[in-house]
Amino acid sequence: MAVQISPSILSADFARLADEASAVAGVADWLHVDVMDNHFVPNLTLGLPVVESLLKHATLPLDCHLMIEQPDRWAPPFAEAGARNVTIHAEAARAPVRTLRAIRAAGARAGLAVNPGTAIEPYADLLPEVDMLLLMTVEPGFGGQPFLDLVLPKLRRARELIARHGGTVWLQVDGGVSEQTIERCAAAGADVFVAGSAVYQADDPAAAVQALRQQAERATSHAAWAG
Ligand code: DX5
Ligand code: ZN
Repeated sequence: MAVQISPSILSADFARLADEASAVAGVADWLHVDVMDNHFVPNLTLGLPVVESLLKHATLPLDCHLMIEQPDRWAPPFAEAGARNVTIHAEAARAPVRTLRAIRAAGARAGLAVNPGTAIEPYADLLPEVDMLLLMTVEPGFGGQPFLDLVLPKLRRARELIARHGGTVWLQVDGGVSEQTIERCAAAGADVFVAGSAVYQADDPAAAVQALRQQAERATSHAAWAG
């Protein structure tokens, strides 16, 4: 099971996005882009025009995380624009199957996210429609929040659901992922790790990505779920 690291540009300098993207280009697997509409979450970041510009400059594939109230309307255009993964929130989607299918039809991977207080079991039947599950390990909206250990049991249950499903659904964690917490996430079953402040507040973002990957790989190699 390959570990993947997805640095979040939420903690980067928004006026220098192309440079910030290239700072991790050689070492990361994805560039995580947090789209917030000030309705689904109490924060406002960027939308489709900025993603379209970033697509012209970033060499890493974009992992777009839509924290917005109308993912059914907005997710397909992000995929059509060229985002390689588009994740929608289960709490916001009115027609998740249709939207996940539209994302895939546009050529992107389809992600389904849940907040810390949202159970994963009601979405088990949707796994065939999903390429990645995202379990938020903070309440979405802001970078730099403390990691919520209370999500770890759900992470283990999600890994079991994926194993039972038998598919190749990736399991992503997002929020408070750092050198202090990434091993717990990997041990519980995560294989894709979003890190914002742990990467972009570091003096050397590329070295931070490499350190996170090493830790996650070590924890995964000892994890029962990966054996
Ligand atoms: C939070 C965002 C995250 C954020 C994580 O709602 O979805 O992607 O950038 O930031 P850190 O890693 O600092 O918790
Ligand atoms: Zn995110």
